[in-house]
Amino acid sequence: MNGPAAESHNHFVDYDELPEGSFYDPDAEYEPDPEYAATLAPDAARQRRERIGPTGRLLPYFRIPGPLVDHGPATIIAMCNQKGGVGKTTSTINLGAALAEYGRRVLLVDFDPQGALSVGLGVNPTELDFTVYNLFMERGMSADEVVLKTAVPNMDLLPSNIDLSVAEVQLVSEAARESALQRALMPLMSDYDYILIDCQPSLGLLTLNALTAAHKVIVPLECEFFALRGVALLAETIEKVQERLNPELELDGILATRYDSRTVHSREVLARVVEAFDDHVYHTVIGRTVRFPEATVAGEPITTYASSSVGAAAYRQLAREVLARDIRNS
Ligand SMILES: Nc1ncnc2c1ncn2[C@@H]1O[C@H](COP(=O)(O)OP(=O)(O)O)[C@@H](O)[C@H]1O
Ligand SMILES: [Mg+2]
Repeated sequence: MNGPAAESHNHFVDYDELPEGSFYDPDAEYEPDPEYAATLAPDAARQRRERIGPTGRLLPYFRIPGPLVDHGPATIIAMCNQKGGVGKTTSTINLGAALAEYGRRVLLVDFDPQGALSVGLGVNPTELDFTVYNLFMERGMSADEVVLKTAVPNMDLLPSNIDLSVAEVQLVSEAARESALQRALMPLMSDYDYILIDCQPSLGLLTLNALTAAHKVIVPLECEFFALRGVALLAETIEKVQERLNPELELDGILATRYDSRTVHSREVLARVVEAFDDHVYHTVIGRTVRFPEATVAGEPITTYASSSVGAAAYRQLAREVLARDIRNS
């Protein structure tokens, strides 16, 4: 997996020139939530002194993005890992909401027939007349009929439900079966700055469509046993898509999720992930907190459900880091 991430430091502000306190600080930017802050920074004093982030590397300062005058064309990002429960849907909602807070126009695409992304934004998938399936499979269907506004300003949703599972079967016999989503998203590109696709937990035809449509991939990786198992297969799939279907596809980054620094195990997994993927691993790490499942039940992103929580701050920092890596859009 080679990508431009190695050069990405060029976009970061030089941390040596920053005033004291402007780097990541578990106590500074948001209301203290000591229990959760401890999951991210076991040694806050050392972190402050040496500016070491949770991945063990120097933590760059990710500047607050300025407002945009024009919008689009969108950067399309696929949130992808064939393992379930690793934080794909949670990261899609909350990265999207944080980008929208920074004034970016965001479209979230629910590309999992389970419809968890739609549910997480308060939409009941069984009550929808039209979903991403219709846009994807029916020619002549206009996006306006399918796209829903969310409660978050600047953020829209292409919802899905179980109908999408049929698409996988129907597509098999089509000629350009991997590029159906790319075609469906084309007319929406100019309306948005970011289109985030929440993939289903498999490497099947739906995920191939997402990877073919995308400019970049974000791989959420749970800091748990066997997290790395399956990543080789995912990397191979990404490489195949790069060779055959989408030469522009890049791995934007690997996002460590559900991290709890109080457990040796979580720290070990994160260290191994950094060892294996180096600069591809985002400096931002998402800690484990019950606030995420709570926000899902409330049908809201954590950035509005618990706006001053550490979880919300983590996704805002991720948004700034993603923007810093995105030459197209920063
Ligand atoms: N950082 C986190 N801390 C605690 N729970 C989390 C975190 N991220 C996700 N979860 C919870 O874990 C479950 C699976 O997350 P989800 O985002 O749906 O994973 P995926 O889409 O990869 O299957 C959900 O109940 C979600 O609320
Ligand atoms: Mg999901």
